[in-house]
Amino acid sequence: MKQHPPINSHFPTLWFGGDYNPEQWSKETWLEDVELMKQAGVNAATVGVFSWVSLEPEEGVYTFEWLDEVFDLLHANGIHVVLATPSAAPPAWLSKKYPETLRTDANRQRRHHGNRVNFNWSSKIYREKAASMAEMLANRYGNHPALALWHVSNEYGGEDYSEESRLAFIDWLGTKYGTLDRLNAAYWTAFWGHTYTDWDQIDLPGYPIADTSIHGLTLDWKRFCSYQMLSFFREESAPLRRITPNVPITTNMMGTYEALDPWKWKDDLDLFTWDSYPGFQSHPVGTWELIKVAFVHDMYRSIKQKPFLLIESTPSSSNWYSSMRLKRPNMHKLEAMQAIAHGSEGSMYFQWRQSRGSQEKWHGAFVGHAGGTGTRVFTEACEVGAQVKELADVVGWTSEPEVAIVYDWENAWALKDSCGPVVGEKDYHRTCVEHYRGFWEQSIPCDVIDSDQPFDRYRVVVAPMLYMLKPGVAEKIEAFVAGGGVFVTTYLSGMVDENDLVFDRQKSWPLEKVLGIVPEEIDALFPEERVHLALDSGEGSESYEGERFCELFWVTDAGVRGYYTSEFYSGKPALTQKFFGAGEAWYIGARTRDSFLEELYAGFAYRLGLRKDLTSSTSRGVMAVQRGNKLFVLNCTEEVEFVAVGEQGIEIPAFGSIVLPA
Ligand code: GLA
Repeated sequence: MKQHPPINSHFPTLWFGGDYNPEQWSKETWLEDVELMKQAGVNAATVGVFSWVSLEPEEGVYTFEWLDEVFDLLHANGIHVVLATPSAAPPAWLSKKYPETLRTDANRQRRHHGNRVNFNWSSKIYREKAASMAEMLANRYGNHPALALWHVSNEYGGEDYSEESRLAFIDWLGTKYGTLDRLNAAYWTAFWGHTYTDWDQIDLPGYPIADTSIHGLTLDWKRFCSYQMLSFFREESAPLRRITPNVPITTNMMGTYEALDPWKWKDDLDLFTWDSYPGFQSHPVGTWELIKVAFVHDMYRSIKQKPFLLIESTPSSSNWYSSMRLKRPNMHKLEAMQAIAHGSEGSMYFQWRQSRGSQEKWHGAFVGHAGGTGTRVFTEACEVGAQVKELADVVGWTSEPEVAIVYDWENAWALKDSCGPVVGEKDYHRTCVEHYRGFWEQSIPCDVIDSDQPFDRYRVVVAPMLYMLKPGVAEKIEAFVAGGGVFVTTYLSGMVDENDLVFDRQKSWPLEKVLGIVPEEIDALFPEERVHLALDSGEGSESYEGERFCELFWVTDAGVRGYYTSEFYSGKPALTQKFFGAGEAWYIGARTRDSFLEELYAGFAYRLGLRKDLTSSTSRGVMAVQRGNKLFVLNCTEEVEFVAVGEQGIEIPAFGSIVLPA
C-alpha cells in the first residue's frame, strides 16, 4: 500500500456529488438544490459543462453573473466546485458564424449545428475560441475558494474528416516519417499498387468512401485522431495551467473508448477521471459487467500509479440502453464502493437533477422528476453519501499489485483493422477481461497497463493477444522474465510490428528466445465450433475446450504442458512453459474460457504465493479489495452469499458490499 497526496490539498476527503446544471432551473430551485445536497452529504458539484451559450450568448457578450452566484451559493454551503470548460457544446451563434468549426463526417459531409462534441478537432478558430473561454473562466474563478478541480470539456471523442484535418494529418505524418520512401516502406504500399509519389496524395482513410486497405495508414490515422484530441486539450487547458497552477486539471474519460488512447495523456492530466455506466442488460444481471468496470478502475489507477476519480455514474438507470431496468437494491451502493475500493477518490454522478426536456430527460439522477426527499433513489444516494463520508481514511491510498494485465490501445486498433484471421470482432477487450477475471475471482489485486509501461514492478505480467510488438517490447519481456518474472501470452501474439507489418518468422521471431516456440499457422474456427485440449496437471490430464483461435506452433525450446486432443492437430502442443533466467514464460495456443484461466491462475497464485486481499475462498462473483485500512467485500451476484473473513462468517445480500477493517 502506498499513500498519495489528495486530489486537492484543500479538500482532503472523498468526493461525493455530480454534474449540476443550474442554468436549467430557477433560483428558487437552486436553493432547494443546496438544501438537498447538504442532506445527501454532497461535497462537490460539477458545473458549466454545457454552459457556453449561457456564459456568452453572443460573440464577445459575457453573462457570468449567474455562475458567480452559483459559486457563492455552493461555497456558502460547503460544496466545492468542479468547473468545466464548455467546449463540448458550442453556442449556435458560433457554428453559424464559423461553419468550418463544425465536424465533417467520414463521408466528407459537414454536419449541422447541434448535439454535442460536434466540432472540428483541427479548427484553428474553434481552438482559439475554446482556449479564450477557458482563460476567461480561469481569470474569473481561479481564486474562488470553492474551485477544487478543472474539468476540461466533456468526453472528448470522434474523428473529423475535414480538409483542415487532412492537412494536419499529412503534417503529422511528415514529422513522423520524414520522407515518403520511409512512409511507403512502413505501409507496404507496393501491395495493390498504393505507392505514394507526393504527400498531397494521402487521403484520410476509412469507411464509407475512402481506403481501408493500408493498415499502416489506418493505424496512423487512429494515432493521429487520438493525438488531435490531446493537442486540442493542450490548447484548451493551457490558460488554466498558466493562470491557476495550483488547481488540478482533468477531463472525463469514457472507459475503454476506442478512439482515445488515455496512456498518451498520462503527463497532461493531474488525475484521471472517468464515466462509468455499466450495461446490466443481460440476465442474470451483474457479475461480468462489474468485472469489466473493475478492470477499467484498475486501468485508470495504473496509468498514473495513483488514485483516480469516478466522476460520473448513475444512481438509477441510463437512458441509452435498450431497457432502462432499474438498479436493484444495493447495486448503486455496490458500484460506489467498488470504485472507492479500486482507488477512486469518491463517487460522483450524472446528474444532480433530472432535466425536464431534451435528450436525457429519462436519464437517472439524484433528484428525479418525482423529487428528492422520500424517493427511493434519493434515499439510497443519501445512504451512499453517509458511507462515503465514513471512508475518509482511504483517501490517497492505492495498492501495489504484483500482477499486471496488458491491455494496449494501439494493439486493439491493429487487431480491429486486420482482415483476418476472422472477419469482425476478435474480442481483444473481452479476452483481456477474462484473464483479469482469473485473478479477480481470487481477490488478487491487478494493475492494467499498456505494453509501453515498465514490467519490472510486477511478479506476473499477462499479455493476451499481444498482436503488435512495439519496438523494445520483446527485449523488455526477456529482461522481465530473466529477472524472475512470470510472463503469459497467447495465440495471435507477436505477429506484427508497430506499423502492422508481419514479422518475417522465416528469419527470426522476436519472442522465440523467451517463449521457446515459433508460431506456424492459426486455425480460426467458426464461432460455434469447439476443439479439445488436455493439460498435463502433474496428476493426470484434465480436458478443456478451445474456441475461435487455435495457434499451431513449433516448440523449439520449451516444456509442453498441454496438447490439442481433437482436430487434425490432435497431439500437437497447445500450452507451453519455458524457464528462462530466473523466471518463466507461458504460451497459451488456443482461446480458452473462464474455467481454464481461473484454474491456471489459481495454480500460479498457489505456486508463487501471490498476495490476496482475502485469503479465504469465496463463491464465484464475490471478491475483496483492500485499500488503506479498509477491506471492501463485494458481492457482485444476484444471490445472497456467505464469506469467511478471519474467524467471522458474514452474510452478504445480493449485490451487497461491506467494509471491514483490513
Ligand atoms: C456521459 C456525459 C454526460 C451524460 C451522461 C449520461 O457520461 O458526460 O454529459 O450525457 O453520459 O449518461
